[in-house]
Amino acid sequence: GAPVEVDHSKLGEGQLLNVEWRGQPVFVVRRTEEQLAELQNVRGRLRDPDSEVEEQQPEYARNEHRSRDPEFLVVVGVCTHLGCSPGYYPELQAQPFDPDWRGGFFCGCHASRFDIAGRVFQGVPAPTNLVVPRYKFTEQNTILIG
Ligand code: FES
Repeated sequence: GAPVEVDHSKLGEGQLLNVEWRGQPVFVVRRTEEQLAELQNVRGRLRDPDSEVEEQQPEYARNEHRSRDPEFLVVVGVCTHLGCSPGYYPELQAQPFDPDWRGGFFCGCHASRFDIAGRVFQGVPAPTNLVVPRYKFTEQNTILIG
C-alpha cells in the first residue's frame, strides 16, 4: 500500500488522530508531559517494557517512548490479541479494575490494557505491544507512514 501523509500541526496536546493505512487504523497521538512521565511509573506492570520483541516496532522505536520523537506516538490501532481496535483513554486516572492502569489504550473486546506507548500490561489476553509502523518526519509538520 501507498504511504500515508499526516499533517500533525493541528493536533492539540493529548489528542489522537486516527488515519487509515493499508486498511488498518493508525493512531497518531501528541502526548502531554504527564502522559510521558507515566511511562516510567508503569514499567513494573509491563510484559515488554523495553520493546525487545523485534517484530513489534522498527529500530528507532525500541526505546521507552517507542517513537522517533517522544512527543508523537505512531502506532497501529489493532489489538495484538484478536484484532479489535482499542479505545484511547487520555485521562491519567486509576481504574477500579486495575489501579495501575492510568490511561493509554484499552481493548473492550477482552479487556487488554496498554500504556500510552502501546506497551501491553501483564495479565491481559494481548501477548505483545501494539505494532509501530515504519514512518518518518518529512518536514516540519508532516509524518509519512509506510
Ligand atoms: Fe483485544 Fe481480545 S481483541 S483483548
